[in-house]
Amino acid sequence: MDPLVRRDSAVIWHPATHFDDLEVVPPVAIARAEGAWLYDTDGRRILDAISSWWTSVHGHCHPQLVAAITEQVARLDHVMFAGFTHEPAVALAETLLARAPGDYARVFYADSGSDAVEIALKLAAQHHRAHGRTRTRFAALTNGYHGETLGALGVCGSEAYRRPFAALVKDAIMLPAPARPFHTHEDLVGDAGTADAEAAIGLLERHQHELAAVVLEPLVQCAGKMAMTGVGYLRRVVEAAQALGIHVIADEIAVGLGRTGRIFASAWADVSPDMLCIGKGLSGGALPLSAVLVRRGFDGAFRGPPERAFAHSHTYSGNPIACAAGLASMTLLRETMTHLPDRVAALARARMRVAQGRACISAHRQCGTIVAFDLVDRHHRVSDQRIGLALRRAALAQAVHLRPLGDTLYWMLPLAADDDIVDHLADITGRVLDEVLG
Ligand SMILES: Cc1ncc(COP(=O)(O)O)c(C=O)c1O
Repeated sequence: MDPLVRRDSAVIWHPATHFDDLEVVPPVAIARAEGAWLYDTDGRRILDAISSWWTSVHGHCHPQLVAAITEQVARLDHVMFAGFTHEPAVALAETLLARAPGDYARVFYADSGSDAVEIALKLAAQHHRAHGRTRTRFAALTNGYHGETLGALGVCGSEAYRRPFAALVKDAIMLPAPARPFHTHEDLVGDAGTADAEAAIGLLERHQHELAAVVLEPLVQCAGKMAMTGVGYLRRVVEAAQALGIHVIADEIAVGLGRTGRIFASAWADVSPDMLCIGKGLSGGALPLSAVLVRRGFDGAFRGPPERAFAHSHTYSGNPIACAAGLASMTLLRETMTHLPDRVAALARARMRVAQGRACISAHRQCGTIVAFDLVDRHHRVSDQRIGLALRRAALAQAVHLRPLGDTLYWMLPLAADDDIVDHLADITGRVLDEVLG
């Protein structure tokens, strides 16, 4: 066993990891990373096919990000963001507001995606209170995921995350959402007239008096096994909620920053949620950074008597190094977006090649650069949840990092991953599926 892994096993408690699974797939000791590749302590390179939990939008250690971070850390490492300000935070906010699809006017910074969701939920409830309305419940989509702090868990539709803490969280109103195979642009624009859309709107109407906000992941419910929901559904639910005075929180923590083929996924539906949360790849995947974009005029409810102020803070809010990385990342993203249609097409070809003739793939879909395959075992039963672990282990043996969500295997490469990388990933994915499920 690698000496670092032995030391790790004595002292570390890893996230989203069952201790017993470490016997089956021990952690890989990583020494460095570059582009789409991780290098272990023996120098073996491993393809990071899920961008390290969807963060690494430009690949690891991108020289422009490294330069921005290095320059910033030598000048101003950190200053508390209450009572102080600095260039990287202001410039990043200006850039985000200029690129966002709606009329957003303010940015509230935090560290993780869960923090951003908590902030948006609290802002929504306080906004209603300031207008004399006691609205303390939230609505969310049945299969959605918004993080694992207690507030965010309350709006998590995915039972697996919520169930262990159900007694601790406040129940949300769960709205049904259609999930469909996305293959073409026509699939993307669908779902407006579905029964799910009607039922969701019915629930919003029935609970209008108590609903502070509805929170949803536009287009792809990523942790919810990459379920894809058409733009038509999104537009109808957003417009219905806003007409009922229910704030809309778009959680673009996973789907934002280019993943769906546009910088912001909400742009596909031409909707303008009241708040838009981003995180994960916001710093280019190098540092913890998240943000809530808030629509113009929303802050009016927080002015006036002191008790109207928003009482929420995270120590590292607006950290200059993270914001400098974010600014460099947004500059890179502008360039990357021009080539993205080619990358999406390459992924589509690779997806078809993997799916062709493989009985273990019951469905496959793609939204922009997000690709997913649903799997069944050789008896055509839906695969056991532990299949993810077997696939992860088999892929690692082939030097590819895949982390299936139960019986759904997905790819989320850095946005600009070239044809060689995409082809290599398709080859190894096919080989691993044949070995484990063939
Ligand atoms: C859509 C969405 N929202 C929120 C979160 C939580 O982000 P974090 O893990 O940074 O708290 C995630 C994480 O996967 C996510 O996918």
